[in-house]
Amino acid sequence: MRPFFTLAILASAAIHVTSAAFSCKNAQIAGFAYDLSALARDTILERNATTAPTITNTKYVINPCAPLQSSPDSVPKIDQCPENAWVCRSVTNYKDKEGARLTEVNSVGGNSKSDEPTLQATTSGSDRPAEFHWKMGGAEVDGVKWSTDIKFVCNKGAKNEDSPKLVALKDGLLELEWSVPAACALGDDGKDKAPEDDNKDGDKGGDKDGEETSGGGFFSTVFSLFISGLVLYLVLGVMYNYLVVRATGMDVIPNLAFWREFPYLCTDFAQHIWDTVSGRRRGGYSVV
Ligand SMILES: *[C@@H]1O[C@H](CO)[C@@H](O)[C@H](O)[C@H]1NC(C)=O
Repeated sequence: MRPFFTLAILASAAIHVTSAAFSCKNAQIAGFAYDLSALARDTILERNATTAPTITNTKYVINPCAPLQSSPDSVPKIDQCPENAWVCRSVTNYKDKEGARLTEVNSVGGNSKSDEPTLQATTSGSDRPAEFHWKMGGAEVDGVKWSTDIKFVCNKGAKNEDSPKLVALKDGLLELEWSVPAACALGDDGKDKAPEDDNKDGDKGGDKDGEETSGGGFFSTVFSLFISGLVLYLVLGVMYNYLVVRATGMDVIPNLAFWREFPYLCTDFAQHIWDTVSGRRRGGYSVV
């Protein structure tokens, strides 16, 4: 049954890799760390154009960190941004007294659940990129493949609440520029970001904080690996015993003999440890 352990661990590792979702908090661009989580919200960009005899309102809703929140149920399904859209474009037409008429809604970024943006930057040597591109493909409508390209620019003088600027919309490609402090690499000279960086320069207390943060991440990874491994081991073990060995009842539990012994093994082990520790205490500095 030993192969099951190995298999379960391999499989859980694979699950872990594939489920490594896009994270604004721990974004990696050209080997540098960025934290874009300050921009994790639905930002609205809208403008009116005079299109006599009507006014045409074009609205973009953008969240660079996650799919957009779904509209309230009061909004008809057909008028809502598509599910899994991270960037949504809608066009509304206003004509005197006739009220608003929504004429277009489509995803400009994000189509299926597994869609994720890509982050790209051109680097020169070991410099932290001061600009990078956030790109995501959207829906295809009448042969036009919609997509979004946000150029993020590191700007410590700006505020993360600032809206992006509309640069161009051509052949379905929406180009935005977003100048914010969140677009600066962590560990950059400024101290508005990157508590990790402050720790590096700080005293021992700061260092300890940094260790704790990374330690938490490491242990939660190990823990989730362990749990997925355990689940896989149980599922595969039961399947194997049931389908191949054709076991029934309690016998479907993988490595049943081992698990029966397990409590005794544990007490044995604890006893052994206790003996060692208390023995060592009695004998002072005994060499192991
Ligand atoms: C666009 O025009 C409509 C209709 O006049 C108005 O209700 C809306 O507030 C305007 N939006 C902007 C962003 O100017």
